[in-house]
Amino acid sequence: MKTSKLFLLFLLIFTISSCSYDSESDLIEVSTDPVDPNILVNYTDDVLPIMQSACIGCHSSPPVNGAPFALVNFSQVDQRASSILNRMSLQSGAPGAMPPSGRLPQSTIDKIQQWIADGQLEN
Ligand code: HEC
Repeated sequence: MKTSKLFLLFLLIFTISSCSYDSESDLIEVSTDPVDPNILVNYTDDVLPIMQSACIGCHSSPPVNGAPFALVNFSQVDQRASSILNRMSLQSGAPGAMPPSGRLPQSTIDKIQQWIADGQLEN
């Protein structure tokens, strides 16, 4: 009897502790690995997944929810790279901050910055 109560207690603690871990990065599908300085960042592998998970909900083709343009292909993103970085770098919830729902992890923003620094490669 005593042992089974103890077991239930451990089970309860285990269940609670396994539910309570929620970091910001768990909520976002994009990899939050730090930027590796030895690998060049490119659109297809690095930038496109960020756009797909955080931007094309509105910046689709055609754009919806008041978004002024699409960000679905290389040329659209390439052309707007610096304004994308600027909007993503704004503080969470600031007017014009992208995405409007909240700032993405710093490592994601760093990836866009590194893509620009590496020359905005497509592949
Ligand atoms: C919920 C819808 C929504 C999502 C998601 C969203 N945007 Fe926007 N975006 C808008 C709207 C609406 C505007 C126009 C208002 C403004 O400029 O703030 C806009 C404007 C912009 C602009 C400036 C346009 C200009 O006139 O120069 C950029 C750049 C931008 N978004 C990039 C992004 C990026 C990058 C993401 C993803 C990280 C993103 N947006 C996600 C709705 C969205």
